[in-house]
Amino acid sequence: MAYALREILETDLDLLREHRNRIDTRCYLGNANPVTEAQQRAWWEKHDRNAYKVVQVNGADVGLVRVTDVDDATACVGSDVFFEHRGKGYGHMAFAAACDLADERVGVFRDLARRRLVRRLKPRSLWLRVFIENERAVRIYGKAGFVVDQNATVEVYPRITSEGGALRMLHYVRMVRHHQEPT
Ligand SMILES: CC(C)(COP(=O)(O)OP(=O)(O)OC[C@H]1O[C@@H](n2cnc3c(N)ncnc32)[C@H](O)[C@@H]1OP(=O)(O)O)[C@@H](O)C(=O)NCCC(=O)NCCS
Repeated sequence: MAYALREILETDLDLLREHRNRIDTRCYLGNANPVTEAQQRAWWEKHDRNAYKVVQVNGADVGLVRVTDVDDATACVGSDVFFEHRGKGYGHMAFAAACDLADERVGVFRDLARRRLVRRLKPRSLWLRVFIENERAVRIYGKAGFVVDQNATVEVYPRITSEGGALRMLHYVRMVRHHQEPT
C-alpha cells in the first residue's frame, strides 16, 4: 500500500473541523478546545501549505499529517486518522507519511545550511508530544523508532475520556527519534 499527500482545500474544511472537534480526537490533542468555523478559516488562509497535508491511501482521504518547527536538524511530526478509517492500520501509514515529509523538509534546510557552511550541523532527529495514555498512538510511534525523551519535562493535563466520560489526568510526554544514517 502506498500513500499520497495533497494540499488542504477549502472544500475540506468542514470535514477537518468535524474531525478536529470530535471528543475522541481532541481529548488527545495538546489543545483540547474545539475550533470555531471562523478560527479554522483564519488558520487555513495563512497556514503553511508545506506543513499540513491530507494523506490519501488508494485515492481515499484517510487522515491529516503535520510537520512543524522545522530547522536544519529537527522537526515536530504528527498525524491523525479520520474516524471512519481508524483501526485499519492507516495510523502507521499516516505517521510514516508525516516522517517522510519531515525528513524531506529538514533535508532542504540542511542542504542550504551545508552550502552556506554556516556552522557545524547538529545531529538529525524528529520529535513529537503525545499523551502516554494514548495507546494506539504510542504504539505507532514506538514501532516507527520513537522513544520517550527522558530529559524532557512531562506535562500533566486534565482530559475527559475519548467517550466523553469523567475527567482524568493524562501525561504529555516528548518522544524522539534520532537519525541513524550519516548526516
Ligand atoms: C491515533 C491514531 C492516529 C491511530 O490510527 P489508527 O488508524 O486508529 O491506528 P492503527 O489501526 O494503525 O493501529 C495502531 C496500533 O494501535 C493498536 N490498537 C488499536 N486499538 C487499540 C486500543 N484500543 N488500545 C491499544 N492499542 C490499540 C493496533 O493494534 C495497532 O498496533 P499494531 O499494528 O502494532 O497491531 C487515530 O486513532 C487517531 O487519529 N486518533 C485521534 C487523534 C490522535 O490521538 N492523534 C494522535 C495525537 S498524538
